[in-house]
Amino acid sequence: MAVIAQRCPEINVTVVDIDKARIAAWNHDNLDNLPIYEPGLAEVVKEARGRNLFFSTEVDAAIDKAEMIFISVNTPTKTYGSGKGMAADLKWIELCARQIAEVAKTDKIVIEKSTLPVRTAAALKDILDNTGNNVKFQILSNPEFLAEGTAIEDLRIPDRVLVGGDIDTEEGKEAMDALVNIYASWVPREKILTTNVWSSELSKLTANAFLAQRISSINAISELCEKTGADVNEVAKAVGMDTRVGPKFLNASVGFGGSCFQKDILNLVYIATSLNLKEVADYWEQVIIMNDHQKRRFAANMVSKMYNTVSGKKIAMLGWAFKKNTNDTRESASIYIADYLLNEHAEIVVYDPKVTEEQIYSDLDYLGSRNVDANRQAVTVVNDPMEACEDAHAIAILTEWDEFKKLDWQKVYDKMLKPAFLFDGRNIINFQRISSLGFNMFRIGYL
Ligand code: UDX
Repeated sequence: MAVIAQRCPEINVTVVDIDKARIAAWNHDNLDNLPIYEPGLAEVVKEARGRNLFFSTEVDAAIDKAEMIFISVNTPTKTYGSGKGMAADLKWIELCARQIAEVAKTDKIVIEKSTLPVRTAAALKDILDNTGNNVKFQILSNPEFLAEGTAIEDLRIPDRVLVGGDIDTEEGKEAMDALVNIYASWVPREKILTTNVWSSELSKLTANAFLAQRISSINAISELCEKTGADVNEVAKAVGMDTRVGPKFLNASVGFGGSCFQKDILNLVYIATSLNLKEVADYWEQVIIMNDHQKRRFAANMVSKMYNTVSGKKIAMLGWAFKKNTNDTRESASIYIADYLLNEHAEIVVYDPKVTEEQIYSDLDYLGSRNVDANRQAVTVVNDPMEACEDAHAIAILTEWDEFKKLDWQKVYDKMLKPAFLFDGRNIINFQRISSLGFNMFRIGYL
């Protein structure tokens, strides 16, 4: 929304949320503490805020005034009832729809921005059409393809923008045009695709499933490499140079995280299962199974290399975010690696440049493997990578933050207990360059 406001000064954008603290943070003078860390975002907010970008808790007033409403609420995986652990929880979407229906007095275009399972638009339409005060609603699907950490850049120069709507009616086409025109302020027309609503919804799930599948594919090969002496980085390079395959999303890693991949694939699996498409469901589920295996395998490998015990050993974890340049930790591999090591009675010290101590504890508490006190006793969070490595038996690099590449590894080595172990879960360290230091070093896909 901030980018739309920046690019279209003639459009008034109001972002509303019921969370007062969150809105206050978006309105705060200190742009360094916006609720979301994203390179370039503060500058965009600075330019547009107060001009045509507003943050408010007055939800009803904003609905009343708006011609277009983007629904951008959470759609987490359901944690209860039917479809638990797989289906998307549409509770928040439905609450939004009901509030819009209740408040709206004039015709509106309602846009699904949240990633939703196919056919949610139908549910939305049903609620809006049956509870409104004779107000006409057009429902569009406009899935977001930005990746965290590069969000502003991805929005500025998107590979494509997708607008799904009711292409069979004049009103539907008009609504789609209205949204297309907004994006056309800065995106070339040929990159704006218009489709029917179902195609648009399914495209988002499919795009994420394909991307995640590439990571699981290369991660599957990484285990094979470790058994045979091939180097997964070399294999990935050779494979990626085939222009039909391409080089992106072939970095072997400790496993993908983030709020989208796992959730969207589970969603796809759930949809396939509910349509009795067992093979389709199993096929995509394997992407998740491989990812869980990769995280477990990395942690188990750490324990086995450290003479089969980490009990009472101090392990420094560098990185908690699910990838660099974000403070988002949802489904981050770090959480699962930490949990595994804590079960083995390791002591953990975490350093991440953007993730707060509070968030790290809350991620572990949420997993629920041990009580809140036990997590605080066994895990320490520090503000300096050097401090994290002090007297550590091992270091695990779990997020590819650039600053980890630049660490003075001689100094790090000197601070650690010997023999010192270095496990690179992101393949970012040039092991050749530091080979003389004396570390026992391990990385993904080459032993
Ligand atoms: C993803 C999609 O890329 C984006 O289009 C969609 O809108 C939302 O979901 P995001 O989750 O922000 O974006 O991050 P992404 O860059 O896709 O990375 C996801 C995970 O895969 C991260 O944990 C990342 O470290 C990991 N990854 C990525 C790899 O392990 N190897 C790779 O080669 C690429």
